[in-house]
This record gives sequence, C-alpha cells and structure tokens, in this order.
Amino acid sequence: MLNTEDILCKMLFAQLQSIGFFTESKSQPVLENFYGRWFEESQSILERHQFLKRTENGHVPTRSIGTMSELWKEWNEQKSDLLQDNNMKAMVTLVETALKALPDILTGKASATDILFPNSSMDLVEGVYKNNQVADYFNDVLADTLAAYLQERLKQEPEAKIRILEIGAGTGGTSAAVFQKLKAWQTHIKEYCYTDLSKAFLIHAENKYSPDNPYLTYKRFNVEEPASEQHIDPGSYDVVIAANVLHATKNIRQTLRNAKAVLKKNGLLLLNEISDHNIYSHLTFGLLEGWWLYEDPDLRIPGCPGLYPDTWKMVLESEGYRYVSFMAEQSHQLGQQIIAAESNGVVRQKKKTETEEDTGHLQIDAEKDHSQENASLIEQTAQFVKHTLAKSIKLSPERIHEDTTFEKYGIDSILQVNFIRELEKVTGDLPKTILFEHNNTKELVDYLVKEHESKLRTTLLKETKQPAKNEAPLQT
Ligand SMILES: C[S@@+](CC[C@H](N)C(=O)[O-])C[C@H]1O[C@@H](n2cnc3c(N)ncnc32)[C@H](O)[C@@H]1O
Repeated sequence: MLNTEDILCKMLFAQLQSIGFFTESKSQPVLENFYGRWFEESQSILERHQFLKRTENGHVPTRSIGTMSELWKEWNEQKSDLLQDNNMKAMVTLVETALKALPDILTGKASATDILFPNSSMDLVEGVYKNNQVADYFNDVLADTLAAYLQERLKQEPEAKIRILEIGAGTGGTSAAVFQKLKAWQTHIKEYCYTDLSKAFLIHAENKYSPDNPYLTYKRFNVEEPASEQHIDPGSYDVVIAANVLHATKNIRQTLRNAKAVLKKNGLLLLNEISDHNIYSHLTFGLLEGWWLYEDPDLRIPGCPGLYPDTWKMVLESEGYRYVSFMAEQSHQLGQQIIAAESNGVVRQKKKTETEEDTGHLQIDAEKDHSQENASLIEQTAQFVKHTLAKSIKLSPERIHEDTTFEKYGIDSILQVNFIRELEKVTGDLPKTILFEHNNTKELVDYLVKEHESKLRTTLLKETKQPAKNEAPLQT
C-alpha cells in the first residue's frame, strides 16, 4: 500500500489545485460541513509528504507535479499491477472512482454517497470488506473467536440457546463469515439479530441470508442511542458483534455503553476495527459524513475516527469490559484489529427525564447488579465535576467531554485555583497538584470516587436520591 502513497498524494494535490486550492486563484470553493475537517487532514497528509509547507499565510506548494494527464498515466501504470492483487482490487477501484469525482464532490456538484454507492448499489464498497484475503482473514479470526466461545459455553451449559446481535451489519462482510462458522452450532442458536442504522441493508440481508440461516431476525438499531428505546431487549444477548462500525459514532464511550446495555452480564463483545490511518481510507470513506462524526478526537487516531489498540483497551476497561484481548495482534499492521471483551454487567444508559426533555438536558442514570449505587456515584461525580469546570470557564456543562484535558478548556494556573476550591466544597481538602495528576474529567472522577467516596456519597447521592423520576428502569 505504501508505495502508491506518492501517486495518490499527487492526484489529491492536483485535484485540489484543479478547483483553485494552492494556486494563485482567488476563487476557491467554500467547503461545507465535515469537508472542512477532511480538507485539514488532506493538508496534513500533503505536508507530511512534502507537497506543501506551512507558512504564516497558510499552506503553499513546495514542488510541481506535472499535468493531470501525466498523473493519470502514472496512476494507470501502477494500477495495472495493483489490480493483479486480489487484496487490493476493490480498494483500488474505489479510490480511483473517488479521486475522479473529487472536484465535483468538493464543489457540491455530486454527493460522495452517490459516487461510492452508485444507484444505491453496494458493489463498489462490498469487496473492501469481504472476498479479499486481508478482509477474509480478519473476519475469520472474529468467527473463530465466536466459535471458541460457543464451544466453551456449551461445555459448561450443554442446553444453552445463544442469542447474538450484530451492530451495523451492512452488507454482511463479517456476518457471512460468521454464518458459515455457525452452521456447526445451528441448533444452539436461538437468534442472530442482524441490525443496521439503514433499513436498506436489512432488506438486502433478508434476501441474501435468510434462506440458509433460520435464526436470523432483522431490526433497525442506532448504536448511538439506548437499545431500550429501539425495541431491542436490553441485557438479553450473549454476544454482540460490531465490524467496522463503532468508530463511525460521535462518542466512543457512549457507543460502548449502548452496546453493553444489549449484552447479558459476562456477555461477549467482538469488534473488527481499523487499527491505523491510511490514505486509501482518507480518499474514500473519509469523504462520507460518518467518518467525521466523532467529537472525542483525544481518543482517536489523529486525522481519522479509528482508535489504536491501546486506546481501545483503555476505553473498554474504563467502561467496565474485562478480559480485553486482541485476537490478531500479530497482524495489526494490515490495518485491522479483532477485539474481544466481556461485559461486567454494569449498564449506564442515557435517559430523558420529563423535566430534562424541556431543557434538552440528558440525565444519565446508572443501575444493574449490586453496583447500581456505585455507577450512580460515578455519574453524579462526573456531573459535579463537569458543572464545576463549566462554571469556572463559563461554558455549558454539556460541552465538557470526559476525555478532553483541562488544559484544552483553558484551565491555567489561575483558573485551577478556583476550580479546585469549588471541588473542595464537596470533597474536603485536595492536593494542589491534583489537576496535573488527573488531567481530564474521567481521570479526576476516578480519583475522587476512590479517595473521597464517603464525602461524595453523603453530599451528591443524598441530593439526587429523592426524586424517583430521575431513575431509569433496571436493565439486566
Ligand atoms: C463500513 S460499514 C461496515 C459493514 C459491515 N459491518 C462490514 O464490516 O462489512 C458500516 C455500517 O454501519 C452502519 N452504521 C453506521 N452508523 C451506525 C450507527 N450509529 N448505528 C448502527 N449502524 C451504523 C452503516 O449503515 C453501515 O452499514
């Protein structure tokens, strides 16, 4: 993949110049919505590859790259080799299609969705997710992990009937490999709930997979919203699978909470996810809105929505998933990772309350198991920290992200004195270095709950316990 980066950068650069960027031209298109973010990342890529340099007047070209027809000729020569490689064929065709249409996409004459899914067809994209060795390898690793789980589970509980739910199953790139593996266990599968945000995929899947897989059910499910509000029984699935989808959400922590709410206690989460950033993705999926939805860049790989393996581990563990394992660790350089993790059964869900609906506020309730109170304490402490921080910097608490450092919110040495003083009104004395040691809301909350639990319980929980309307129904 690496040796084609240069020509792809040249083509990107040339296409951007063709619509007025990085030239003397006064008229450049105004990039709407997420294309501003896409363009910033394009500049960074071009800077890294020394096509551009940053000056105080913005980015300027550092070299000339030949005419467009020369570049297409160079691309076509490299492409014919790449097309011999079954692993690259689908991606090469997709990137060429996107590059050709890039000026029209950026100037609003064409939509990236129409270009990548012409006439709503999945054909161009489907081959990226299946029927090539790399995709098939990762899909097989995920399916094998599921098979190992089933084997072990049935050893302990021979009569078990397993329920599986797949999030964002799309065209079934991963599902098809899983169905193949499930054949041996068919009598033990009670349900495989095939879900996606878009109904179009459910219709496609029903036609394609129903005849051979009698346990299939189909539901629309948006993993950014609580399952209980989407006719999905919370806490009722043994396994949740999500392939190439969780990264395409605003807030990865919230997404993991919603996925967890679907799982039974000790249920298995299986993820197939990108493990790195590359120019192919940037020039294809990067042109779609889902790529840029994320609002927690501190957790993402710079310039793209993926998470590095270490970050997945950290986030999963802090959201109460245990035994986080990477099932294809030796192959992460191929661009994907397979993650397995088990739910500890504690579920945190957003729930709108009557009064909060009026203000647009979301109240988070916590429950389940014997840890209902603990989860509630963590949540109330998080709310307390967010409100206190928000007050210090005159921002609305909803705009505080748990993973963003206090420094990014402008908490300097002067503001931190006041911030700590306000926290101490509830916790009692705190170390003056506390914000250095715990430099975002999540870390600070963990510390406060650990070190000042009883103070927090008596103040925060006492205040919030009385109104029953703030409590969500138990989800097991
Ligand atoms: C890149 S495709 C991957 C499809 C499939 N899992 C595979 O690997 O072949 C992402 C899929 O996730 C779906 N999706 C995107 N955002 C979603 C969300 N918030 N909740 C559920 N599904 C979502 C899309 O409709 C699409 O089908």
